Amino acid sequence: MKDLLMEVRNISKSFSGVQALKDVEFQIYSGEVHALVGENGAGKSTLMNILSGVYQQTGGTMIWQGKEVSFQNTREPKSLGIAMIHQELSLAADLSVMENVYMGRLAKTSFHTIDYRKLKEDTVKYLRRVGLDEGLAETKVKELSVSQQQMVEIARALSLDAKLLIMDEPSACLTQNETKILLDLIRELRDQGVAIIYISHRMDEVFEIAQRITVLRDGCVVGNFMSDEVSVDQILSTMVGREYKVEKLHSCRAAYQDEPILEVEKLWYKNIVKGVSFKLYPSEVLVITGLVGAGRTELVETIFGCRKATSGKVTIEGRNITGVKACKMTKEGLALVPEGRKIKGILPQMSVEDNTWISALSRFTRFGIIRTNDAAKEVEHQINSLNVKTPSVEQLMKHLSGGNQQKVILGRCLMCLPKILILDEPTNGIDVGAKQEIYKIIDDLSKQGISVICISSEIAEVMQIADRVLVMHEGSVTGELINDGHLSQDVIMQYASNVKIQA
Ligand SMILES: Nc1ncnc2c1ncn2[C@@H]1O[C@H](COP(=O)(O)OP(=O)(O)OP(=O)(O)O)[C@@H](O)[C@H]1O
Ligand SMILES: [Mg+2]
Repeated sequence: MKDLLMEVRNISKSFSGVQALKDVEFQIYSGEVHALVGENGAGKSTLMNILSGVYQQTGGTMIWQGKEVSFQNTREPKSLGIAMIHQELSLAADLSVMENVYMGRLAKTSFHTIDYRKLKEDTVKYLRRVGLDEGLAETKVKELSVSQQQMVEIARALSLDAKLLIMDEPSACLTQNETKILLDLIRELRDQGVAIIYISHRMDEVFEIAQRITVLRDGCVVGNFMSDEVSVDQILSTMVGREYKVEKLHSCRAAYQDEPILEVEKLWYKNIVKGVSFKLYPSEVLVITGLVGAGRTELVETIFGCRKATSGKVTIEGRNITGVKACKMTKEGLALVPEGRKIKGILPQMSVEDNTWISALSRFTRFGIIRTNDAAKEVEHQINSLNVKTPSVEQLMKHLSGGNQQKVILGRCLMCLPKILILDEPTNGIDVGAKQEIYKIIDDLSKQGISVICISSEIAEVMQIADRVLVMHEGSVTGELINDGHLSQDVIMQYASNVKIQA
């Protein structure tokens, strides 16, 4: 039997009008990975925020190594050895990687100035452990990709030498390679006796890494299993409270004999996107997949005008839109749901309603007057059809659970009535049930004639939603495959790593 490190008894938490947790019981053992799973809004982050002192519980007690504790701030749990990697990135964008890793505990020289040499030396150790280039220690965080930033968060958590390490969806914006590094690290820490709480919507990861799995539903613990005594389907059914089934959606909707709606010709962006050409057809769902650093996000951001193309051409229905700025793209019929919520997406201090209709403002404005009633009606429709869990549309965006924020961003793009919708990893952090809902939405949009470009790293997702797949490797397209129902994971992986394809 492992040592009981921490115990949570009858924990409840309510926010004004929302009961987020009800009488939750939870045991944490040293040297064990404990996965916490549940649908979006089930209460996972809230529970972990209580354990790490961000929130105070409304009822119940916490026992740490046999003694009752109550945390009034985040310092107390930290001093006991509890570290948390939050669901949303929490780095200071304008500071360097090393300043972020050691924020609040910067090494000082004997003259009381910051000891940058030691800072760098110490940081490099942790960068190496998470597989990041040592040269990044002095780079500003804002120059890193979302996944690199996540690895910096992990490096920071490692540097705290915690007894209990809480990871709230650490892999949501990581690709397969990085996730592998993360899982190896977790195993290493576990073997050293660290207790790890791992929140994820990815069942393959959960079963690979966790010994114990707790399922939350609507703020209650509805299941507690040892991972070798339970099946994935059992966990999913416990999560959603009914039998869980995957619907096969792929139906090859695209009309390839039609004129393409979007054409990308020899598009270059610096040395990251290298001469990419492809066509997108009406009603088509085109999935772009590949490994870390393949340039997929940069490609769609260049198409969308967030980045200035070095050379090449983009046309929509024959109109040249190369060089059009991102803010004008809505008018051209293009909408982008960006990767990584906090950095590029949400307006945390504004309501769900404002977050939903902000990009479509011009549609509801005539002679300088905003038709708020019409806008409100459409927002209500989007929020309902996307099944966003919120007490009302007036709720502040920052109070929604991570997955529900993601759905609001999708709603925002749909409010602009795009002809082409670009989704960058749209189901990151979305629970399995809601994932199927999003696939269904993509399917419906495509039936309505909207074309979709979707970046995805999850092979199962690629197979389920794609009409056609573009595989990228180091900035170039290495493979183009029609999803005729016989796509194989191996072939996609071979193109993604650009190894020679066997005939
Ligand atoms: N500060 C807050 N104010 C009001 N309501 C909140 C606040 N924080 C969380 N909630 C609500 O509590 C519930 C649980 O949210 P929580 O973030 O814990 O869910 P989660 O299980 O982490 O979901 P996800 O998988 O989407 O991250 C949700 O209904 C959420 O809207
Ligand atoms: Mg959460």
